[in-house]
Amino acid sequence: MASTTVVFITGISRGIGKAVAAAYLSRPNHTIIGSVRNAKTPQAEELKKLPTADGSKLLLVSIENASHSDPKKAVEEIEAAGIDHIDVVISNSGVSPSPAPLDAVDPQVLNDTFNINTVSSIVLFGAVNKLLVKSSAPKWITVSSRAGSIGDAADFYYYVSPYGLSKAAQNWFTKTLHVANEKLTVFAVHPGFVSSDMGVAAAKAAGIDLPATSPQESATKLLETIDSATREAVGGKLLDVITGEEYLW
Ligand SMILES: NC(=O)c1ccc[n+]([C@@H]2O[C@H](COP(=O)([O-])OP(=O)(O)OC[C@H]3O[C@@H](n4cnc5c(N)ncnc54)[C@H](OP(=O)(O)O)[C@@H]3O)[C@@H](O)[C@H]2O)c1
Repeated sequence: MASTTVVFITGISRGIGKAVAAAYLSRPNHTIIGSVRNAKTPQAEELKKLPTADGSKLLLVSIENASHSDPKKAVEEIEAAGIDHIDVVISNSGVSPSPAPLDAVDPQVLNDTFNINTVSSIVLFGAVNKLLVKSSAPKWITVSSRAGSIGDAADFYYYVSPYGLSKAAQNWFTKTLHVANEKLTVFAVHPGFVSSDMGVAAAKAAGIDLPATSPQESATKLLETIDSATREAVGGKLLDVITGEEYLW
């Protein structure tokens, strides 16, 4: 019997996360665990109609990123479904509030963005690690952004706001995970400038051209990057999945 690869992706309701879930489901012998805020809604149920290759299936779990208890409950559901390990975790869900001048950022928006984009990723790792360590080749991917690169911050002046700050902190966590876990392949990705709701809204806010990369193209490149990823080659890095470029932290 072919072995099954188990992939956990957060935020599969739409955008890049949905395209990544669909791409993995089109491969045989993959169990995809996908989180949405509430897996019990009819909209979430629709995701179960995504085309699925032989031996592959989707398990939906509920994670609201603002909750610090949802990831643990999700792992209980995963174990109850008979899944005893996870091979790949893709921490993807997140928000990008409108940029604001640094001297006029609403502190509540800063707190909320940090909680939803950064704290949620750290809490997620705390919950899933016990299943990740049971994989023979575990991988953790943070869907970050070049907007979180401190080294390249000057190129993203219009993002210097809660989003960039939260992604920089998420990058720091990603690097720590890499250093602290010798058996885990850990890296962060910039998924491209993607025509999801978030990418389109960012382009409109910045008054620039709409993103040229579709969620499906981004997902294809992300899967290629994950497939070929080794700790030695990409561990502890921030990679652009479209260009293959490595960005400064
Ligand atoms: N699009 C780009 O150009 C771009 C560039 C760089 C990095 N990224 C990163 O790529 C990732 C995916 O973004 P996207 O472009 O696909 O954005 P998107 O279309 O806006 O999708 C965001 C996803 O995150 C989920 N989410 C948002 N807030 C949440 C919360 N509080 N709790 C749980 N889930 C929540 C959304 O669920 P709901 O449907 O329930 O809201 C949705 O599934 C993000 O981490 C983003 O920062 C995107």
